Amino acid sequence: MKKIDLNTGISMFPMPAAVISVGIGEEANLITLAYVGKVCAKPPIIAISMRPMRHSYGLIEKHGEFVINYPTKDQLKEMDYCGTKSGRDVNKWKELNLTKEQGALVKVPMVKEFPWNMECKVIKRVELGSHVCYFGEVVATHSDEKLVTNGKLDPEKFNCFAYLNGNYIGLENRVLETHGFSMK
Ligand SMILES: Cc1cc2nc3c(=O)[nH]c(=O)nc-3n(C[C@H](O)[C@H](O)[C@H](O)COP(=O)(O)O)c2cc1C
Repeated sequence: MKKIDLNTGISMFPMPAAVISVGIGEEANLITLAYVGKVCAKPPIIAISMRPMRHSYGLIEKHGEFVINYPTKDQLKEMDYCGTKSGRDVNKWKELNLTKEQGALVKVPMVKEFPWNMECKVIKRVELGSHVCYFGEVVATHSDEKLVTNGKLDPEKFNCFAYLNGNYIGLENRVLETHGFSMK
């Protein structure tokens, strides 16, 4: 095996790619993030990283809460849209016909149509460089009952996907679509 130096071209695989809700009421917005990862079990903590230029940045700073919403493969287009258009210019909820659903412990709304939602409260923020990292304690999790077996999310039932280098990857490692396809 001959390995080549990729310099700083680091990427984890698979990257989850989730749609994050931020903000409250009419201000509530949706942003797609691939820099998402579980970093602690007790308490359960998920880290997300966002560039300060994002419209969503001001909203997470303002309220200190976010919700991680996982779509299925059938909702890839909605996720791509949330990662391509800005809430400064469009109301993504309205454009995508998505419904705000009140969670249990945070004021930021969940996406009703997406089957897996995790409510998070920011417990720490770290400025890393290009991105600001937020550590969110997961205070409540909701899942479509059809995706659950024995109290746990069933990977054989959850038709999800991953993200790598601009491509949406099916779990059978097939590229589904490429960043921006929802604009065509
Ligand atoms: C698959 C995918 C993953 C992305 N991951 C990130 C990320 O981890 N951090 C980030 O700041 N932006 C990320 N983006 C870009 C933002 O989602 C995009 O700029 C979005 O339009 C910002 O929305 P807003 O201006 O309404 O906040 C990603 C986009 C896509 C399509």
